[in-house]
Amino acid sequence: MAGGRPIKTPFGSIYATNITPDIETGIGAWSDADFVRAMREGIAPDGSHYYPVFPYTAFTRMRERDLLDLKAYLFSLPPIRKKNEPNALSPPFSWRSTLALWKVLHFSEGEFEYREDRSEAWNRGAYLVEALAHCAECHTPRTATGGLLVDRAYAGSEEGPEGESAPNITPDKPTGVGAWSASDMIWYLQSGFEPDGDTAQGVMWEVIEQGYQHLSERDLDAIAVYLQTLKPIEQFVGGRSAD
Ligand code: HEC
Repeated sequence: MAGGRPIKTPFGSIYATNITPDIETGIGAWSDADFVRAMREGIAPDGSHYYPVFPYTAFTRMRERDLLDLKAYLFSLPPIRKKNEPNALSPPFSWRSTLALWKVLHFSEGEFEYREDRSEAWNRGAYLVEALAHCAECHTPRTATGGLLVDRAYAGSEEGPEGESAPNITPDKPTGVGAWSASDMIWYLQSGFEPDGDTAQGVMWEVIEQGYQHLSERDLDAIAVYLQTLKPIEQFVGGRSAD
């Protein structure tokens, strides 16, 4: 959690920051309000804007209670002294002030809204996928200015994080995961095994290994329930049909 990992984007490399509770180099001096504002609004305690490579665009959907629980957990970890790396971006991307404009174009702040017309499992799955697991950050294609192309939500991105392309995970049969059963999806998020025996690679394997495999079976089932209700969208290029 001490940061330093470069995240390559089409605009340059941005380094993940130290989120251990070290007072000087981490987030140890942050108040609850600072933490909530960073996660919900993408604004640092000094008032500057964060690059959306820190996916506050998804975390903004989190409930306040969950944000505070997350902070409590982070603050229970050992503080590690490690200075943040300067970002390797060139102008205009190196100007944080341009981020205010980016936010006007591509960011809508706001907590997840429970839908009464859907099941408990669907709502849980939607909350996990949209807010915490931020699947769209990789699986939704982006516009030239780096915003999520919401009309093509989850239909696969050509240039995801680290330059890896992420496949279509909508229920489209030819190019998405329409042929996967709920248990196929659960098993994939637990083990990285696809129904055809292939295994998850790259950043997908990382998010499974570091995160999703630790979710309860119930939460994984909720994710599968939610994904099956996404609008099926055909992937333009690089989808399954092109394999
Ligand atoms: C950090 C980026 C990232 C995140 C976050 C992410 N994925 Fe992925 N995902 C990928 C990449 C890249 C691949 C391709 C992996 C490969 O080639 O093995 C992938 C592959 C998949 C596949 C395999 C699809 C196929 O047709 O083979 C599924 C299913 C999937 N992801 C579901 C999800 C779900 C559900 C979430 C959220 C709970 C999620 N992913 C979050 C990047 C991501």
